[in-house]
Amino acid sequence: MASLEDLIPTVNKLQDVMYDAGIDTLDLPILAVVGSQSSGKSSILETLVGKDFLPRGTGIVTRRPLVLQLNNISPDSPLIYEYQEHLAIEDAEGNGEREMTLEDHLRRNNRNYQPPTYEEWGEFLHLPGRRFYDFKQIRQEIANETARIAGKDKGISKVPINLKIFSPRVLNLTLVDLPGITKVPIGEQPHDIEKQIKNLLLEYIATPSCIILAVSPANVDLVNSESLKLAREVDPHGKRTIGVITKLDLMDSGTNALDILSGKLYPLKLGFVGVVNRSQQDIQSNKTVEEALDNEQEYFNRHPVYRTISNRCGTRYLAKLLNQILMSHIRDKLPDIKARLNTLIGQSEQELVSLGETGVITSENRAGLVLQLMNKFATNFISSIDGTSSAIST
Ligand code: GDP
Ligand code: NA
Ligand code: MG
Repeated sequence: MASLEDLIPTVNKLQDVMYDAGIDTLDLPILAVVGSQSSGKSSILETLVGKDFLPRGTGIVTRRPLVLQLNNISPDSPLIYEYQEHLAIEDAEGNGEREMTLEDHLRRNNRNYQPPTYEEWGEFLHLPGRRFYDFKQIRQEIANETARIAGKDKGISKVPINLKIFSPRVLNLTLVDLPGITKVPIGEQPHDIEKQIKNLLLEYIATPSCIILAVSPANVDLVNSESLKLAREVDPHGKRTIGVITKLDLMDSGTNALDILSGKLYPLKLGFVGVVNRSQQDIQSNKTVEEALDNEQEYFNRHPVYRTISNRCGTRYLAKLLNQILMSHIRDKLPDIKARLNTLIGQSEQELVSLGETGVITSENRAGLVLQLMNKFATNFISSIDGTSSAIST
């Protein structure tokens, strides 16, 4: 099954070639979630990323935009070890100095210390240089930072929180979690809260390269879906909107969302995906992302109605769909990249002519660079695209 992670090698290799060739970024689309309050937006993003780190819950929890930049790092990246500040210490026998790592230090000072896995961490723009290896602390910091700017009550702020996640298991991609649409002001909220939130959401989803995850809970009538109304304002032909129907498990018994999920009720080119996120009780009992994904799959496989379409349901399928969208974006970029490489070839041929018969191709001159690039492009990239055909089949 193709997932977002399956795109990691392709995107990394392509970015590698582009970087060397001096081409701008791959400009992958940003993904943003919109929907009414507590429709399950944060839950979806968290499961897509595969880590527990976003505040979720009943009531208004997400009160500032969270711009989440995922950064893929290779597992042996020097970045991972960089943080290990070495402290010089004497050993127990007083035999001179030896290096003590930060981990030695933590181990020594905390009986219950568990060595962390160093391979993934988060960093906030507002706390430069500080790495969060414990994702529960990331969640706490999001909550603290939300309260710092938007107040402790129900206030909303349009000032984003910027969080970067570094991990070998994520795709280089930016996701945006957003406050939910509300109608009635509560607490400190201003009387025009609905308009303010909608304007805030439009700032993100109006960008033509933004993919909109328009979330609607299954236990509310789709004609009242705030997310679809808002998405339609900026994407009238439904070309970059995916409808996500959450809380299928909470529908009245005897009813189902088959018509919506089959696209019979509302036109969206990318279609609708039904999901079952973790419930409030699952949150309280610390159900893991992996368990949640397996339970979700089981729910669809066993459901008397949805089992006929279970291969097009669930968060794993949503990830597959996103994979395909990103892959087609990458394919659209290929002609540009090829043209740029051709220009480089032309320039290097001239350089060879000017070098005359004695022209030597070294790794330093342009001809050498272009050869290297062509080589990389051909062997790495083309083969990786061919090799991930499952990621691009539609
Ligand atoms: P947001 O406000 O849209 O970001 O929604 P959250 O992700 O914070 O979820 C709001 C509440 O709804 C939480 O208590 C979730 O556990 C619960 N929830 C979200 N999606 C589902 C779902 O598919 N099924 C069930 N049973 N509960 C869900
Ligand atoms: Na909520
Ligand atoms: Mg939320």
